[in-house]
Amino acid sequence: MRILIVGGGGREHALCWRLGQSASVDRLYAAPGNAGIGELATLVHVSAGDIPGLVEFAERESIDLTVVGPEAPLVAGLVDEMESRGMPVFGPTREAARIEGSKVWARELCQRHGIPAPRSRAFDDVHSAIAFLDELSPPYVVKADGIAAGKGVVIAEDQAEARVAVEACLVQRMFGDAGLRVLIEEFVEGTEVTAMALTDGRAVRPLALSRDYKRALDDDQGPNTGGMGAYSPVPSGGADVEAEIEEVVLAPAVRALEEEGIRYRGVLYGGLMLTKDGPKVLEFNCRFGDPEAQVVLPRLVANLPELLLASLEGNLSHYQVAWAEGACVGVVLASAGYPGPVETGRPISGLADAAGLPQVQVFHAGTVARDGRVVTAGGRVLTVTALGKDHEEARTRAYEACSRINFDGMAYRKDIAADAMEGAA
Ligand code: GLY
Repeated sequence: MRILIVGGGGREHALCWRLGQSASVDRLYAAPGNAGIGELATLVHVSAGDIPGLVEFAERESIDLTVVGPEAPLVAGLVDEMESRGMPVFGPTREAARIEGSKVWARELCQRHGIPAPRSRAFDDVHSAIAFLDELSPPYVVKADGIAAGKGVVIAEDQAEARVAVEACLVQRMFGDAGLRVLIEEFVEGTEVTAMALTDGRAVRPLALSRDYKRALDDDQGPNTGGMGAYSPVPSGGADVEAEIEEVVLAPAVRALEEEGIRYRGVLYGGLMLTKDGPKVLEFNCRFGDPEAQVVLPRLVANLPELLLASLEGNLSHYQVAWAEGACVGVVLASAGYPGPVETGRPISGLADAAGLPQVQVFHAGTVARDGRVVTAGGRVLTVTALGKDHEEARTRAYEACSRINFDGMAYRKDIAADAMEGAA
C-alpha cells in the first residue's frame, strides 16, 4: 500500500511511524513532512493547504490511502476533492468538519441532540453578547466561531476581560471571518480529558483517553498553546468513565450527524470536562489531537492502516481496538517565545542520544534538515515521548530524553504528567 500523510507536525510523525510499522505499507509519502518524517517517508514539497497540489500528487502517484492530519485542509474540503475522484482518503468531508470549523454549529448540534455541553449562546452583535454576560457567573469563556490558529478561546476572569475578548472578535476583527460570531459559555469545573474515536459514520471505536496541557508554562500558567505535552491513559478515566463518554458523547455525536444527513468518517475528537454531573463537551475537533496522537498511537495494539481503511470503507464494526498496558508521556520542546513569534534555524543536538534510550520516541514537529543537520523550523519543535509500566516510569524516561536534547532557546514544561502520578487526574 502507498500512503500519503498530509501535514508536518508531531501528530503526522507519529502517524507515519505507526503506519510504517505495518507489513501492508510499501511506501510512505508526507506533504510537506519535517526532518523526522523524512527519515521514514519521502517528503513531497506540497503544503498541507494546497488542495489541488495534493490531489494531483495522489493521483499521479496512485496513492492507495491519503491520511489527513491537520484540520485546515479538512475544513477546506480536501476529502471532498479526493472522494469526488474516487481516491481513498481518511478524514471527514468539509460539511462534517464543520464540527471543528464552526464552534457555533457544533454547539447547536449538541443542543439539538441533547449532548451534554456547558450553557452557551452565539452572538454577532457586541451589545447582546455583553448583556448575556449578566446571565452567567465568572469566569467566562469567549470563543471565536471559526478556526483561529489556536488563539480563538479566552477564559476571562471578569466582565471587563470578557468584553475585551468579544470586541477583539466582533469589532477589531482580530480573527477575520473566523471571529464574525462569538460563543459565550459558562465555565465548567472538573478534569479535562481528550476523548478521540475512530468512526465510519456509524460504528464508533473510542481511542484511549489522554490529557493535554494547553498552557505554555508549569502549573497551567501563561498563554494557551496548541499543547505542551500529554499523557495516556488518564488515571481517573477508568472503564466506567470511558463507557459513559462513549454512551453520552461520542456515539450520540456520530448519530446526531447521521440523523442530519452527514456521514462522519475519520477521527472525532472530544475535548471534554469530566464534571460532577458527568462529561461535558468543551469542543469537538475533526482530527487526531496534537500532542495527544503522540501518546495514544504508541499504545495502540492494532493494525493502523486496516483501521483507517475500515473507517473510510464503512466496516469499522468488524474491528476492535486494544491498548498496551502501562502509560505513555509526551513532552513538547518548543522554541523560545512560543506561542508568539519565534526564531528558527537553530541547530538541534542530542536527537540520536535521546532516541536511543529505552522506550523513547522523539517525534518531530517544527524541524527541517539543512546541510546535514536538523534545525528548528517552528514554535513546537519536538514531542519527546516514552512508554513505561506506569506514568512515573514513562515520565522519568521522557524527561531523561529531553535532557539529552538541546537547541538555543529550548523551552518546555517540567510538570507534564505530574498530576497523573499524584493520582489527581
Ligand atoms: N492538543 C489540542 C488539539 O489538538 O486540538
